Amino acid sequence: MDYKQTAQWLKEKLGCTPRFAVILGTGLSDMAEAFPIFQKIPYGDIPGFVVSTAPSHKGNLIVSKIGKESVLFLQGRFHYYEGYPMTDVVFPTRVLAAWGIEVLVVTNAAGSLKLNLAPGTITQLTDHINFMGTNPLIGHNDDEQGERFPSMNQQYDPELRSMADEIAGEKGIKTEKGVYIAVSGPSLETKAECAAFASWGADLVGMSTVPEVIVARHAGIRVLAYSIVTNYSNLFHEQAHSQEEIRHHAGIAGNQLKTIIAELISRV
Ligand code: HPA
Repeated sequence: MDYKQTAQWLKEKLGCTPRFAVILGTGLSDMAEAFPIFQKIPYGDIPGFVVSTAPSHKGNLIVSKIGKESVLFLQGRFHYYEGYPMTDVVFPTRVLAAWGIEVLVVTNAAGSLKLNLAPGTITQLTDHINFMGTNPLIGHNDDEQGERFPSMNQQYDPELRSMADEIAGEKGIKTEKGVYIAVSGPSLETKAECAAFASWGADLVGMSTVPEVIVARHAGIRVLAYSIVTNYSNLFHEQAHSQEEIRHHAGIAGNQLKTIIAELISRV
């Protein structure tokens, strides 16, 4: 399935081209329900979308209104560890680009590699390390979407980042900053891997986001990304992670992140 055809299909079905889209990660799906919903399309009904098998990824594309703006929420995403090829993982982002979305906010749940990033911390991404062992742009380059060798300098939009910081300050919401390293998963990182990642300058580790950011930047979409820290990585303890705990922390911080995103959308 061609992402351009899917973009056309969505344009006709929904009758609008929103400027903003938000990808909701693990435990954050509920954010989409906080605003008036105009349309909701299950991923299974969208040509070319696969079905998310990850826990707490609902799998709906939602058109909401925040103020006067139509905003797209992608409730759930596809991960490389689910066994999908990268082309499927980034298909929704390619569709957003072909559709004409201008600003993408990407969210995820992540493990912490730094003591100061405790579970529950909302962390704005300043940079990333792609350690997934692949790149979503490998293969034919769609020159209409972007260039063969796109820059990944300042891939997290400086202006959006500072606007979001300003909003967080005004609303009294504490956020931190961090570098995210993306791994393929699904096994969690060993202590030695965590120590290596931290020594490379990573603050957070997760299994998503980077492919979407690369594809969005390739197509010239402005990107802002947040991780909700849901657990300390293995660097700091001897226990296995509880998926229950991960969802709990994502839920609380998700509510504050919603406030930042909604305000940002009304100001951009
Ligand atoms: N590691 C990788 N991905 C994650 C983690 C983690 O500790 N927590 C949430 N997603």
